[in-house]
Amino acid sequence: MNTHVMDKPVGRTRLDDRTQDIIGKPLDRYEGALKVTGTAPYSHEHLQGEDVAYGFLVLSSIGKGKVTSIDTSAAMEIEGVLSVVEGDNIPRASAEPMSDGHKMANGGVFHYGQPIAFVVAKTFEIARQAAHLVKAAYEEEEGRFKLSDEKGRARISDGGVMESDTKRGDFEKAFEKAEVQYDETFTTPSQSASAMEPHATVAKWDGDQLTIWSSGQLVSSNTTQIATGVGIEESQIHFICPYIGGGFGSKLGIGPEAVLAALAAKKVGKPVKVALTRQQVYQATSRRSEAIQRIRIGCTKEGRITAIAHENWLANSEGNDFFEPAGVSTVFLYAGEDRLVTHRVAQTDVLMTSAVRAPGEAVGLLALENAMDELAEKLGLDPIEFRKINEPDKNPQDDTPFSSRKLLECYEEGAKRFGWTDRPEKPGARREGDWLIGYGMAAGSRKNMIVPSSADVELTADGRLTIRSSMTDIGTGTYTILSQIAAEVLGLPIDRVDVELGDSRLPSGSGSGGSFGANSAGSSVYVACEDLIAQLAKRLDVDPESLTLKDGFAIAGNRQVPIGEIAGGQTLLASGSIKPGETAENTHQASYGAHFCEVGVNAVTGEARVRRLLTVAAAGRIFNEKTAKSQCYGGQIWGIGGALMEDLVVDARSGMIVNHNLAEYHVPVNADIQNLEVVLLDEHDPYGSPLAGKGIGELALAGVGAAVTNAIYNACGARVRDYPMTLDKII
Ligand code: MOS
Repeated sequence: MNTHVMDKPVGRTRLDDRTQDIIGKPLDRYEGALKVTGTAPYSHEHLQGEDVAYGFLVLSSIGKGKVTSIDTSAAMEIEGVLSVVEGDNIPRASAEPMSDGHKMANGGVFHYGQPIAFVVAKTFEIARQAAHLVKAAYEEEEGRFKLSDEKGRARISDGGVMESDTKRGDFEKAFEKAEVQYDETFTTPSQSASAMEPHATVAKWDGDQLTIWSSGQLVSSNTTQIATGVGIEESQIHFICPYIGGGFGSKLGIGPEAVLAALAAKKVGKPVKVALTRQQVYQATSRRSEAIQRIRIGCTKEGRITAIAHENWLANSEGNDFFEPAGVSTVFLYAGEDRLVTHRVAQTDVLMTSAVRAPGEAVGLLALENAMDELAEKLGLDPIEFRKINEPDKNPQDDTPFSSRKLLECYEEGAKRFGWTDRPEKPGARREGDWLIGYGMAAGSRKNMIVPSSADVELTADGRLTIRSSMTDIGTGTYTILSQIAAEVLGLPIDRVDVELGDSRLPSGSGSGGSFGANSAGSSVYVACEDLIAQLAKRLDVDPESLTLKDGFAIAGNRQVPIGEIAGGQTLLASGSIKPGETAENTHQASYGAHFCEVGVNAVTGEARVRRLLTVAAAGRIFNEKTAKSQCYGGQIWGIGGALMEDLVVDARSGMIVNHNLAEYHVPVNADIQNLEVVLLDEHDPYGSPLAGKGIGELALAGVGAAVTNAIYNACGARVRDYPMTLDKII
């Protein structure tokens, strides 16, 4: 095993000294065609045509209290019902992504829609009918369902992906002394990840060996969570998920059905299939926390920020430590000597909150970037000018150098391409018929991380390469990106590279989350290829550096050998691993972008339409221009939804999620999306990874919503601090 620890910047690599020109190319996603033609099997589609049973979840109809008894007699009378699992075996909810396993109910109900029973029957229809006949009796208690009511009891949580509090200097004192002060509080709603493929699992036992087909973003930890929940060893589990229909954080942990399917399959003696209904996905998996955010900024009359604070109040349910790190970007985005970022979590008796795409930035930048726009206006500065004045040259929190930061270039390039100088001077200044036109911009950043990941590569005598890792492809293009990296480094035509993913028997990959997937898993493939090159060089008795690999040949001096033949007909195996190291501590790593938006606001109805949206981003080396841009288009669309429509409504009386379907939980549809443009700047970050890359998946969502609402202000003069900015708040 060749292990690369990121403890120093990388120098020139074979990705710089290219022989193939494959890396970065906008190649189509390998699994794209399989998915749209229905030939990529999703979790629920395994074991088609086999003798299986079907499971259906029964969810609680109270938000807080205890199940005192469950009457399954009516359900069991239905012909075809095989079993009803209930009692202490019921997982409380989805596993929290950061936790080791499942928590059991012990009769306690912690949120409305919590699984309380699981019906298994011969067919899906019978299971569903019987599930509706399961009768639960409850002892109901008074629940806490509103963050605003619980805010005073919020506490520090240590379960986040960042420290709860970061401080520098004395914010309060500096703010008090500041010539210009800004102090506003924003509220942002709960949201649902709403992945296209619902959470689904097929479980099958062979003796004490369990095979699980389940839709999960992180194969390694998902396998651990199932082992804990079922009470067996990880080595007894074969977890398989080659194709996933989106996750957006909701599948970082296992779904509530996964352990139940395994337990039920054991009980009924045959494989069990279960897919959550759309309503159950909303009600019983996880959600993004609603947030209350207070932003205070103190600056000089000229616009130099001296004090900046972002205080956050978030919600989560009992026993779940995660908090939405809404202040993550405020720590380093703008200069200022005295700084304060805090997060406090209030317990509510509502479905647990967890990571949803761009956890932190998606929420926090709605507040911060709105505040920056408003303060720029107050100072009489152009919003870009105000941001430029406060561009730090090192991390303002602790003075570490930025590994790379091209935010100024993003502003420049974006302003030029968008035509920022044509921005209407003030609200109401430009009108086309009933439509008021406005321009808005916002900055975006997404913290970069690399996580441990491993991969194997196998070179066969016919000159084909197979990459193997338990890494996942959630629709981001992993299959294609990994083959591009290997083909580039090994000088192989891309059609000679195969990729096997999403299987717990393969070397442990990073999985997909936090925008770390392509960079981390890709690095492990790169390191494995380096190991393979060393083996090839040794067999040819040359230095690896003097070996040129091109078009399937190894070229050393005047020798040119087909790469597969070097081992004399044998198969060569190589392994690679990447681990984060000191560069993560010695530098501050993030990807950056600037968003520019043009909206039309209907002067009669208050309807806001995004007419144009441009994102200019710098995220290290781009591995595939098409998949990278597709991620950004997705982020832009999420940003528009976050600004204008997404709002997961919790019934304040019961904790029930009211709009638990895609008809009533509004996300943008085709008609809402007009002109999207993404420009990726050339950037290599030698501290980020051996590939000189950084994360991009979640970057383009970070800040987009504020660019939209800032444009709405510029159009019509409406500033709304309670998201989403629906038309009733505009008119
Ligand atoms: Mo992402 S929200 O870490 O899948």
